[in-house]
Amino acid sequence: MKIYIFGNGAMASAMAYGLMDKFEVILVGRNSKNLAKFSEFKTEIYGSSYDISGKNIILAFKPYALKDMVSILKGRANLCISVLAMTNLADIKAIAANAHCVCLPNIAAKYKASTTAYYSDSDDEMIDEILNSFGKAIRVESDSELKVAGVLAGCVPAYLSVVAEALANGGVKEGLKKEISLNLVNSVFNSTSKLLENYHPALLKELVCSPKGTTIQGVYELEKAGVRGVFMDALKASTKGAN
Ligand SMILES: NC(=O)c1ccc[n+]([C@@H]2O[C@H](COP(=O)([O-])OP(=O)(O)OC[C@H]3O[C@@H](n4cnc5c(N)ncnc54)[C@H](OP(=O)(O)O)[C@@H]3O)[C@@H](O)[C@H]2O)c1
Repeated sequence: MKIYIFGNGAMASAMAYGLMDKFEVILVGRNSKNLAKFSEFKTEIYGSSYDISGKNIILAFKPYALKDMVSILKGRANLCISVLAMTNLADIKAIAANAHCVCLPNIAAKYKASTTAYYSDSDDEMIDEILNSFGKAIRVESDSELKVAGVLAGCVPAYLSVVAEALANGGVKEGLKKEISLNLVNSVFNSTSKLLENYHPALLKELVCSPKGTTIQGVYELEKAGVRGVFMDALKASTKGAN
């Protein structure tokens, strides 16, 4: 099955690499020079008019370009998936299609590891099939839920990168070589991710903390610094930015 991705930026290319094992991906852009770097994919230029009739399309250009693209894209697509931030399902319906979906993936799509929040009023099974091809898709029930879910899916990799860097620096401060420290932190993220699939975070923390042990002393420092409130405030700030 063919999937036409409109755009050639970071998100478009991440999804293209994530989808290429399962689908024939065609990148459609406005500029042949910017498309030229994708030798693995077929590419097309859309010009002033482009027929989307019967196609499965993913919109991955900048949100402000939607109005212009609505007048360029002609015909009725089969499926129209948008990754445009700050864009509602109703906005996307300006492009004719049998089914529409708005989603917010992250660039881990390149490694089939995106967490993709999505909202759709269609039960078309292809939506899940496509979005789960480049990671894990999680459905929400409204545009407003998608805003918050998109922040969790899209912004948290940056928040956790700050945590990872701080912990790796901490390891160096306590005497580790920097490569070893970063390697340990990366691996611990994998370990924690696996554990979180099996335990609620509160229970996991309880399991690791022993009486008068080393972990609870570190946890106490985190609590004193108000780390929970800081993360909740960060999420609030990012969600406000997405409105
Ligand atoms: N990056 C992320 O982590 C992420 C996560 C979730 C959603 N998104 C969404 O993904 C979309 C693309 O973001 P990105 O990070 O990939 O940005 P990017 O790397 O800067 O790429 C921007 C893309 O938009 C195209 N574009 C820019 N202005 C345009 C215009 N006026 N008309 C038509 N196309 C235009 C560019 O085409 P040219 O090369 O021809 O300029 C390029 O393909 C955005 O809507 C963003 O909200 C991104």
